[in-house]
Amino acid sequence: MAHDPHRLTLSASFSRRLRSPVIVAVGCQLGAALGLAAAAYLLRLSELPRPPIWLFVIMQGALAAALGRFAGLAWWWVPLHLTLPPAVLVVQAAGLPAWIYPVGFALLALVFWNSAGDRVPLYLTNRRTWDALARLLPEDRPVRVIDLGSGLGGVGLYLAGSRPDSQFVGIESAPLPFVIAWARHRIHRFPNLTFRYGDFWQTDLAEHDVVYCFLSPEPMPKLFEKACAEMRPGSMLISNSFQVPGAPPDETVELDDRRGTTLNVWRM
Ligand SMILES: C[S@@+](CC[C@H](N)C(=O)[O-])C[C@H]1O[C@@H](n2cnc3c(N)ncnc32)[C@H](O)[C@@H]1O
Repeated sequence: MAHDPHRLTLSASFSRRLRSPVIVAVGCQLGAALGLAAAAYLLRLSELPRPPIWLFVIMQGALAAALGRFAGLAWWWVPLHLTLPPAVLVVQAAGLPAWIYPVGFALLALVFWNSAGDRVPLYLTNRRTWDALARLLPEDRPVRVIDLGSGLGGVGLYLAGSRPDSQFVGIESAPLPFVIAWARHRIHRFPNLTFRYGDFWQTDLAEHDVVYCFLSPEPMPKLFEKACAEMRPGSMLISNSFQVPGAPPDETVELDDRRGTTLNVWRM
């Protein structure tokens, strides 16, 4: 039977999203809620006294945390599972309107768009790292630089201001961070800076002399493969913090910021 590679890719990406920790965690909370609903139903049928609501809330968190560990979630999901049900109870007790929940969820989804698929959440490059990046750019000629997953646009805005001779692009696929970066750019209006809405996997890296990223361990092997295939000789890949297993960087720059940032540099 002939295979359709496009369908394979779609189903692979769908199953990757399903296996993402966020989806597993939501599944654990739902599983715990179903289990407790069944237990509550059985209790109602019996003559036993009804337990107080706070006991259900504690059991919901504990059961979800246990299911999460069983499903292979990291230990730091345990406090999240434990605090979510009491937090919902507190919010309910505060009498907030019901629309708060879908709106809050939608805002989180618009910011953490890539947490489930690419497993890259939003955190930002700090000012010291902007400076270190500016020092890594070749000074003797104009360069074209791209920030893969540009978040709120801080890297592009800083570098475009400090290197007016060079061209900067930020590409971002999470809707809300992209809109914020775009709005910040409307204020500063650097002519040498562009923010694009899109998926960096669909971007040709050959057009850029310097490719910067601050992602997570998950996409690094695939990104390095893409960089080796597309980037031109003499260009530079810089990854904030995250390395590539089996491909040590040509140079590392260690910063004495609170985060202990390391910039990993590969010269193509
Ligand atoms: C850790 S943040 C870094 C933000 C910014 N580069 C900085 O250093 O301040 C990573 C960003 O990459 C974005 N991202 C993840 N996968 C992406 C993809 N395939 N295409 C575009 N953006 C992506 C995320 O939405 C997130 O905003």
